[in-house]
Order: sequence, then structure tokens, then C-alpha cells
Amino acid sequence: MAEVVIVESKERAGALVADEIAELIASRPDAVLGLATGSTPLPVYEALRARLAGVDVSRVRGFALDEYVGLDPAHPESYRSVITREVVEPLGLDPALVHVPNGAEDGIAHAGPDYEARIAEAGGIDLQLLGIGTDGHIGFNEPGSSFASRTRVKTLTEQTREDNARFFDSLDDVPMHCITQGLGTILEARHLVLLAFGEGKAQAVADAVEGPLSAFLPGSAIQLHPHATVVVDEAAASKLKLADYYRWTFAHKPAWQGI
Ligand code: PGA
Repeated sequence: MAEVVIVESKERAGALVADEIAELIASRPDAVLGLATGSTPLPVYEALRARLAGVDVSRVRGFALDEYVGLDPAHPESYRSVITREVVEPLGLDPALVHVPNGAEDGIAHAGPDYEARIAEAGGIDLQLLGIGTDGHIGFNEPGSSFASRTRVKTLTEQTREDNARFFDSLDDVPMHCITQGLGTILEARHLVLLAFGEGKAQAVADAVEGPLSAFLPGSAIQLHPHATVVVDEAAASKLKLADYYRWTFAHKPAWQGI
């Protein structure tokens, strides 16, 4: 199963994961990062700024998990804009090396396979950051997504649209459709790092980590991965049955192992 790391704050989670990413880039200057959007990964990007200052990141590559369909890429809440604003610019990455699925309606039928081909050409993703939705989605793989799915168009659940309405002027402005890496795509990344903070994520985290494998709870797919790390604060960990064991295990982990 996934390794669960329970930390006291988002900032601590950000520091822990940023250390791992900085080490990856030090050992592999053309590392391929799987980038997530939403509020959850922001402490990681924040912590990475200091760690990557002065580091040559000119060859670092990135692939976002997902994008809205039909939203102008110039819209401030398109994931292209979010990735540019939160990741590419502050970390000084080369924008030409950071990819986001193409959510333009024109050509949408081949946007998924095109994205898969780009990931394959890059040699796959080294470390994939993930958030989790309150409905258990990872990427935008909503309940019912096949564990074998590849990058494709999905219809957002009403729950997800409501959760994301805070980024838009109104619920009506939240797109209905998205294009997302599939669960099969995500499972091919070499290291999965799922983060979750706050009480609102506690049930989804418990179901993903300790519940049965089910397409109904797409986050449970991480149980199939040989190297998955789940970093949560106390509130998001509050429904985990084995929380004490995870604390004990992490406290006694050899330092050289990293996460
Ligand atoms: P959030 O979204 O980070 O904004 O909570 C997580 C997700 O939907 O994957």
C-alpha cells in the first residue's frame, strides 16, 4: 500500500515534497515532473522556489494532469494559465518544456492520444504530484473511471464543479468537461505523491488508502502503485484507521530512504 506521512501543517508537507523534487532534479537535471493544479500543491511549489534558486532548471520537463475543455487558455483559471503562474514563472522553468493537455474543442478527439505520445517521448513521468477531490477523483478522473484509462475527455461531476466554483465568478462559469490523464497514465509515473489537507478530504483519503480498490473511488488506484506516498495533515488523516502505525513507521524510517 501507499506510504502515509502525517505532518503537522501544509508548510511541512510542502517542504518534505519539495526536498524530494529538488533531489530528483539534482540527480536528473532533465527530470520529468507531473504537475497538479488546485490549492493542494501550492505549498510544494512555494517551498520549491527557495530550493531551486540558483539551480539550473533549464532542462526540467513537466506535464500537467488535466485541463478544462473549451476554456480559453488565456483565461486566468485555465490550467495552462495556472501552471504558468504557479509553477513555470516562479520556478524559472522553460515554458516550451512544460505541457498541459490541449482542451481546445477543435481537435479534442486526438488531444488525448497526442498527450500520451508526448509523455511517452519524454520517457515517462518521474514524480507525479496529485491532489484528491472530495469525491475521490485524482486528476479529473471522476468516480467510475477505469483503472486502465488513458488521457481523454471526462464530464465533471456536479460536486467537482461546485468545489471549483470558488475559482470562477459563478458555478455556471465552471466548464462541464475536462481532459485528464487517465488512471492508467498516472499509474505509469515512477513515483506518485498524493497530498491532501483539511477535514473535507479525510473521507476521500481514508477510502483511497484503506478502502477497497474501486473505480467508484478513483484515488484507490494508488494502492496498485509500487511507490506511492500520501502526505496529509492531521485533519485529512483523521479518518485513517492505521494512523498511529503510519506515524510510527515514518518516525523510524531510515533517513537515507527519503519518501
Ligand atoms: P484542491 O483540488 O487541491 O483544490 O482541493 C484537489 C483535486 O480536485 O484534485
